[in-house]
Amino acid sequence: MRTLTYLIASTIDGFIAGPDGSDPSAPGGFWPISPEYVAHLVEEYPETLPAMAHEALGIQGPWRHFDTVLEGRGSYQVGLDAGVTNAYPHLRHVVFSTTLPRGDDPSVEITADDPVEAVRRLKAEDGQGLWLVGGGRLAAALVDEIDRLVVKVGPVTVGDGIPLLGRGAEFSPHAWRLTEHTAVGDTVILTYERATA
Ligand SMILES: NC(=O)c1ccc[n+]([C@@H]2O[C@H](COP(=O)([O-])OP(=O)(O)OC[C@H]3O[C@@H](n4cnc5c(N)ncnc54)[C@H](OP(=O)(O)O)[C@@H]3O)[C@@H](O)[C@H]2O)c1
Repeated sequence: MRTLTYLIASTIDGFIAGPDGSDPSAPGGFWPISPEYVAHLVEEYPETLPAMAHEALGIQGPWRHFDTVLEGRGSYQVGLDAGVTNAYPHLRHVVFSTTLPRGDDPSVEITADDPVEAVRRLKAEDGQGLWLVGGGRLAAALVDEIDRLVVKVGPVTVGDGIPLLGRGAEFSPHAWRLTEHTAVGDTVILTYERATA
């Protein structure tokens, strides 16, 4: 059975975006991107870089971890607002939304299905891992299905914004076991597996 990994960039104080929801990793965004950080992603998680970066850096498959990316409408909207209908054409791209029209870009699957049911179906299929790119609200809805957390903690605090598990998530402690930690310059990449009792 394949697994679901929530791989996400976070501030030290646990925010994945600022209060306005704009992409913190975009030029001018608050999330710091160092050359060492980019080199690490190219080496370890090249499939999580957008197509634009693949073209610029000459990155090609095969991919190491994922063949599918899952995204909430809030996260997907950031790309749409920039005129990008599919930042990850090299992966199967599934967007959860009850409001977006279907079929604007046939390479993206827009679904109004319940995310938990959809992820369970995807896990049962053959293939590589499933990458949950975000955002926070979708991650909160899927928290019981997340098998692995990869949190890229950048050297910044912001005080307010969209939390790792979305605004208004319910209080629900989950335990995780640290399986890997890598420092890349001032950024720390923490990998956790769901802790079993
Ligand atoms: N730091 C990072 O690495 C990173 C990565 C990705 C995203 N982000 C940031 O994340 C932010 C978006 O996060 P977000 O929390 O606002 O939104 P989100 O989780 O991306 O999307 C929420 C939307 O997903 C859809 N959805 C479908 N079923 C759902 C369910 N059961 N529960 C919850 N949502 C469901 C709904 O769309 P409809 O309303 O259309 O039904 C809902 O409004 C953006 O600001 C983006 O910049 C950061």
